[in-house]
Amino acid sequence: MDVDKKWVEKGFIDEPAAEGTDLAAEIRRMCKEKNAVILAHYYTTGDIQAVADFIGDSLALARKAADTDADIIVMCGVHFMAETCKLLSPDKTVISPDLNAGCSLADSCRAEDLRKYREEHPDYKVVSYVNTTAAVKALTDIVVTSGNAKKIVDSFPKDEKLIFGPDYNLGSYINSVTGRDMLLWNGGCHVHERFSAPDIVRLKKEHPGAEVLVHPECKGPIVALADVVGSTAVLLKHAVESGTKEFIVATEAGILYEMTRKCPEKTFIPVPPEVSEGGAGCSCNECDYMKMNTLSKIYNALKYGWPTVEVAEDIAREAVKPIERMLELS
Ligand code: 13P
Ligand code: SF4
Repeated sequence: MDVDKKWVEKGFIDEPAAEGTDLAAEIRRMCKEKNAVILAHYYTTGDIQAVADFIGDSLALARKAADTDADIIVMCGVHFMAETCKLLSPDKTVISPDLNAGCSLADSCRAEDLRKYREEHPDYKVVSYVNTTAAVKALTDIVVTSGNAKKIVDSFPKDEKLIFGPDYNLGSYINSVTGRDMLLWNGGCHVHERFSAPDIVRLKKEHPGAEVLVHPECKGPIVALADVVGSTAVLLKHAVESGTKEFIVATEAGILYEMTRKCPEKTFIPVPPEVSEGGAGCSCNECDYMKMNTLSKIYNALKYGWPTVEVAEDIAREAVKPIERMLELS
């Protein structure tokens, strides 16, 4: 199919739908007609989570991408998630509604830098967070997500030398819970690095009965204040199962949609990020990349079968191996 040059330049299709179009209904209709499945991460907006076939954390989304019978996977998340889908389902059409939806954490590790670092440490194995490009995964021994990192790192013999990247905070946390001293890449997520400990201490004073739920991409002082540290799926599961009625949530605010939907009787208090340019109460606890997914872009992507995500064959051949190793172990 010929894709208009102006869309290629933009990385998404912004054609307005006909007046009165019910985007969600049309998206569902096209999914059925084209045998497409919509996978969405918990950080996307509520309207996208509501229209999706499946919502989950990075691990669950990767598993779903490996298992689906659909011909088309629309991955509403960020680019590395769509790449992971393509690596696991190379014969399927994988769509990312906006090709600009990147990830600051994935950007913090360039393949050429990791290759050099690996060459400098020839006796080390490389453990990479799933938030990496396919080119970085191709240089990796095993991929982890925040949902399985401890289990996978524990599976290595105690004396195995490991490099962990690119998230420094997740790596430090895994070092602390496994008793390892993995070499850590100095990367980070611009959203999770913004949370501040004084904000959480203040919220704890205002809500003394609340439990603090923290994603391990947050800095050490935030993790130290947590009652539960875990992936988005782990935090959600805890919120559902806990007898507690109030939760202070230190991760991207999109997760509150599913938390509130699953537990309408409970209160979820998002941690405002450190007071920065936006000031207190700004939306800087939101991932601007995740929020690039919109119903209109999904509608157009299904209508035109674009933007598709491709991975070069030589990279894909190597990059899929550490993901498959992860799926076998988790
Ligand atoms: P999860 O694996 O917890 O879904 O996290 C993905 C992510 O991008 C966190 O910033
Ligand atoms: Fe990447 Fe951070 Fe956004 Fe997660 S929240 S997708 S790590 S930029």
